[in-house]
Amino acid sequence: MKVYISKSQNETIDIGKNYAANLPPGSVIGLKGNLGTGKTQFVKGVAAYFEVNEIVNSPTFLIINEYVSNIGSNSGSNSGLKIFHFDLYRINSPDELSTIGFDEYINDENSISLIEWSEMAEIYLNKRLKTVSFEFGEEENERIIKTE
Ligand SMILES: Nc1ncnc2c1ncn2[C@@H]1O[C@H](COP(=O)(O)OP(=O)(O)OP(=O)(O)O)[C@@H](O)[C@H]1O
Ligand SMILES: [Mg+2]
Repeated sequence: MKVYISKSQNETIDIGKNYAANLPPGSVIGLKGNLGTGKTQFVKGVAAYFEVNEIVNSPTFLIINEYVSNIGSNSGSNSGLKIFHFDLYRINSPDELSTIGFDEYINDENSISLIEWSEMAEIYLNKRLKTVSFEFGEEENERIIKTE
């Protein structure tokens, strides 16, 4: 486990970028932590590493945002890797996930799934799940981020 102390939004974005560099396709990552602890900022960093062109914001109302990586789009390697960004905060029951085809998303081997509030999807997630946890630190803009 690695523990990071982030002092700003941009530091959290950088932590996400560095984390992304070691992610194989097919990874499923649960992002756990309270409202406002920086989960979405971390996803911004992951998307930046994969050279996603779209603006990354919170999918709270849509459940899922989908982005396409532009890494290797000239050479062909890794091209078309998709990033699925879920926010399950507003899910009332895990059944709603079968309606959106959650299983197919997370089993897509040419994608990386990042799931905010993954606690809501535990029955769908197997041992492949990696967790990143987020907590408030002592100072206003401090966040403690732990990666597995
Ligand atoms: N060190 C930090 N890392 C990340 N965000 C920070 C930090 N310091 C301050 N912030 C602010 O905290 C907020 C984090 O919001 P963000 O949407 O990333 O949280 P979240 O964990 O995704 O919350 P939610 O569960 O509501 O989706 C942003 O407004 C950001 O500017
Ligand atoms: Mg969020």
